Parts: sequence; structure tokens; C-alpha cells
Amino acid sequence: MRVVKERPTLGALIGLRLSRRAALKGIAAGGAFGLFGAAVARDGSSADGSAPLAFAEIGRTTDGTHHVAPGYDVQVLIRHGDPIRRGAPQYRPGHQSAGDQAAQFGSDNDFIAYMPLPSGSTNSTRGLLGVNHESHRAHLCFPGNPASLTREQCEVQMAAQGFSIIEIARRANTWRVVDDSRYNRRISASTTMRASGPAAGSRRLQTDADPSGTRIYGTFANCAGGITPWHTILTAEENIQLYFSGDARGGAEASARARYAITGRGYYPDWGRYFDRFNLDKEPKEPNRFGWIVEIDPYDPASIPVKRTALGRCAHECATTAVSHDGRVAVYSADDAAMEYVYKFVTRDRLGTSRDLLDEGTLYVARFAASGKMRWLPLVFGEGPLTPANGFHSQADVVTEARRAGDLLGATPMDRPEDVEAHPVTGRIYVVLTSNWGREEANAANPRGPNLHGHILEIVPPLVDGRPDHAAAECSWGFFLLGGDPANPAHGARYANPVGASGWLAGPDNLAFDPKGRLWIATDGQGVTAGFNDSLYAAQTSGPRRGATRCFFNGPRGSEICGPAFTPDGRTLFIAVQHPGSERGSTFDRPSTRWPDFRGDMPPRSAVVAITRTDGGEIGG
Ligand code: FEO
Ligand code: CA
Ligand code: CA
Repeated sequence: MRVVKERPTLGALIGLRLSRRAALKGIAAGGAFGLFGAAVARDGSSADGSAPLAFAEIGRTTDGTHHVAPGYDVQVLIRHGDPIRRGAPQYRPGHQSAGDQAAQFGSDNDFIAYMPLPSGSTNSTRGLLGVNHESHRAHLCFPGNPASLTREQCEVQMAAQGFSIIEIARRANTWRVVDDSRYNRRISASTTMRASGPAAGSRRLQTDADPSGTRIYGTFANCAGGITPWHTILTAEENIQLYFSGDARGGAEASARARYAITGRGYYPDWGRYFDRFNLDKEPKEPNRFGWIVEIDPYDPASIPVKRTALGRCAHECATTAVSHDGRVAVYSADDAAMEYVYKFVTRDRLGTSRDLLDEGTLYVARFAASGKMRWLPLVFGEGPLTPANGFHSQADVVTEARRAGDLLGATPMDRPEDVEAHPVTGRIYVVLTSNWGREEANAANPRGPNLHGHILEIVPPLVDGRPDHAAAECSWGFFLLGGDPANPAHGARYANPVGASGWLAGPDNLAFDPKGRLWIATDGQGVTAGFNDSLYAAQTSGPRRGATRCFFNGPRGSEICGPAFTPDGRTLFIAVQHPGSERGSTFDRPSTRWPDFRGDMPPRSAVVAITRTDGGEIGG
């Protein structure tokens, strides 16, 4: 979700010109340490990302519907409000109850995990889809553009967020929801969860309603996520500052709240009027119970989701796992706010030794140097500045205030870090920086201020016996691309190879690799920055056309493009089209599009689409 305060101001746009020299200096520095990286770590594999892309690029669009490359089919699989099990109520726009919503697909779909059935298989025609529901927009979901919400409407919003698990099956080129599956379930802002790891039970997480500090109701603001090698799903709690109302300035948590932008004035001001836990005056520590990575077992419908506090607390975008050379598991994540940090957690133990692998290990924050090296700095209580002298009395304090710990260690402030993905063959880490309208001072890893178009970094872990060491404290890094139009010198865009007039991108957000190791890049914000709808692009990660992005899919106006996720055979691509018609002035009663139904009695709805090739072949060729 794009937080409104980060939209460009006139001052920021003027600053674009003034800072041009600083931006060019930053790019020149990039050249000095091998802009666009060295040779691929381990090539010769058919999945190293060098396979040519065979689809015909599509042009820019600004209309109210989606577009895909020729020769591909787009099927709307499930929409906000669709029942997730047989017999559940159909969507009743304007009359939806919280009870209805609890049995229906949630709002504002974002991350998608495709989990084959049975667990551990590579079945590409039957599986579970785990989907994040990041937010709920009252003005697009309720009639009359209400200035304040009723209790029932707040309960609908709470039921609409969180997570969905649905079983899906493919026959020929058509996917369907298996509506009598035992796996289908909703997880919402009210679902009981367990906290584990260093902050579980700490005084910072104890509330009047939960003196144990271990039993938390719900998850919300779920942005991106990841899949573990043990077949669970990680969902990331992102913009949690939007949910709490009341006086944020008083009491022991005041400065911690300020560092997390919790002001008491958020996007959901009515929740705190009806529910004490969202009222800072009544439950001042409730925000500490959100901003975590939550682990969900989609294959066990009775399982209780677990908040893994060892991975730190921030506006988590994602949680991407990579198995290191020695069997330990790294989880990469990013804190999606301007000038925030990139993190990784490395498990203490090896894969296969425990189901609670994510409770013991070391959390690190990233510092990038102009030399082309970067360091992962450990966030460990008692080490360096993370001591009682600076207000840290335990590892619980360190993970709960991970941002302040990162400040003290000198982490590099980034341009809204979003998705992070590990290349399955080369082990290289791709880090998306979506934009930063407010950046005034460039640094080596964020060379443009302001950064209107976003960029993607590549971190190269060292190899041990030919395998990536994801536990390493020092890695190399470079740029994969600097977004914007390379034909417009004012953008300062850079791509490793030439891109077409429809191939350049802005606002990169979510990433996925296809089975051939090519990178697919979804955008959020092209409508504002570039004047055309958000898109999905593909690029080779190695070979002679490395980094040359090509446009594959455009969403309807007002939407951002999320997911994306491939089946193991690469023959289906799922995309989450989030908040169609969300532009300024567009409402439930007068929306700018009615995608995907195009019915006068139906508002625009977020939906997951399934893309297949008409001839049944692999996506991208
Ligand atoms: Fe929810 Fe970072 O986009
Ligand atoms: Ca995102
Ligand atoms: Ca991703």
C-alpha cells in the first residue's frame, strides 16, 4: 500500500532538478564498482535466467481493463467477496456483513503463494493458493463515501484483511476454486495467533487483554511474503501504523511509536472507537504486537499462525527464504518506508532439524558501501550500541525496535525497500527499491534524490564449494537496473541492455522468478509517475539481453500489480490485481472502472487472475 504522505510535492519535483548533479555522481560511483554486476556465479544451467523471452511486448495502456501479450489467456480466478467455500454467501455490494466477509475472499489481494498438492510435490494442476489481503478501502467498498464507519463496517474491514487459503485445480486451460476443500479458510484481523521467539511474552507485548504477551488477535496490512523450504507460508505485516488511534505521544512507548510512524491518526480511525485494542489510550502496547512476520501452515487447516519475532519488527514487505551452503536458512526482508532498511535473518540450526527454525538465529541489517561491498550488521543485544545505555535491555527490545537498532548500527537508509528475491540458481539477491519522493541526499545504493522511478539492486553472496553462502557477513553488490525512461535524460535511468519504448518501468514492487530463472517485475505507481497503468515486466538475469525489461501485462487503471507466482511447470502465472479504480475521486458510487465485472451494480474489485498460454506452453516461452 502506498502511504499518502509520500506522494510528490512541488518542492520534491523542483528538487529533482537541483539534485541532478548528486544523482549523476551516484551513478558514476556505480560504474566504478561494476555497475550491472560481473559474470553469473554458476551458469550453464537451463535455469540461470539466460533463456530468451519469446512473447511480443505490449504497449502502454490507461484504460479500465487488463491487457496481456498476444497468445495468452487471462482468467479471473477469484475476486474480493467471492465465497471461499460451498454454501457461503455471495458478495452483496453495499450490504456485506462481517459474517459474509469471514467466509469470502478478502480485499486488496497482494502476495500469492502457489503450494502444490500434495505438499512437497511439483503438481502444477492442483494446489493451494495462499493470498495476502493488505488493506480495505471504505470509499470503494461502501456506498456514500462514508466519513466515519459504523461498528459493523469496521468489523467488515477487519474480516476482509489478513490471508486466504483456497484449493484450486486446473483442467485444460481453466482453473477453478475447489469450493468443498477442507483446506479453504480465512485468517483475519481477529484470528487467534501465537507469538514465538525473543519478544514472545515480553513486557513490551503484554496488554490488559493478553497479560501473557503471547496470544495475539489477528494479522493485517499483509503485503508480500514468502514460502519456506518446509512448505509453510510467511506473510509480512507492513503498514501497521495506519490502524491505531488515540494519543501516541504519552507514556513509556511514545518514542518507540514515533520511530514506527504511529501517530494515532491513521487510515482506519474508527477501529479504535469500537475496539479497545486499537485505542492507544486503552492498550498502549498493542502496536508492538504487529509488524512481524507470520508463519502459516496451509496444509493443516487447524494450525495456529505464529508470529516469528526473531525476524524483527518493521513495515515488513516480504520474507524470502534461501538455503545456504551449510543448510542454514536465510530469510531476507525489507522495511517498506522511505529511508528504512533491508534485513536478513539467518537460522542458528540447519534445515530439517526443527519446525521452529525461525525462533533461533541472528537478525542482520544491511549497510552498502561505495566500494561495491556491503555488510550485514548483527542486531544482537549486548553487542555494539545495543545495550541498556541505549535503552535496550534484552533481545526482545532489539527485535521490537529493530528500526532504532538499525539506526545505531549505521544501516543504509534505502528508497522504500520492497520485495527481495533470491535467484534459485545463482543465489544472487534482488532487492527492489520502489521510489523515494523525499530523498534529498543520494548514497551509493540509492543514487537518485528524489528517486521517482525506483531501482533494483543485486547482492552477490560469496560462494563456498560453488554454493551461495547466505550466512555471509560481507557480500558484493551492484545495480540490476535504475528505473525510468532511458530516452529521457532527466530520469537518470540505466538498463544493462536497450529497452523499448514500452519496456522501461517505474515503481518496481513485487518480484518472482520463472522456472528458467528469469525475473518478473510487477509495478506499483506508474499511474502517478509515468501516466500509464501498472504492469508486469520480464527480464533475463543473465545472457546477452540481461536486464532488458519487456512489458507482458497491464492492469486496469488505478490498480497495482502484485503476486506474481508461477506453478512449478511455469505454465500458469498468477497475478493479484490490487485496488482497481483506486484513483483520487473514484468511489463505490462513481468508480473510474468496474473491473473485473463491468456491471453497473458491482464496484471494482481486487482479484487474482490466472494467465496461461493459449497453446498450453510455458509462460514467456
Ligand atoms: Fe504494501 Fe510495500 O507495498
Ligand atoms: Ca508491495
Ligand atoms: Ca515476491
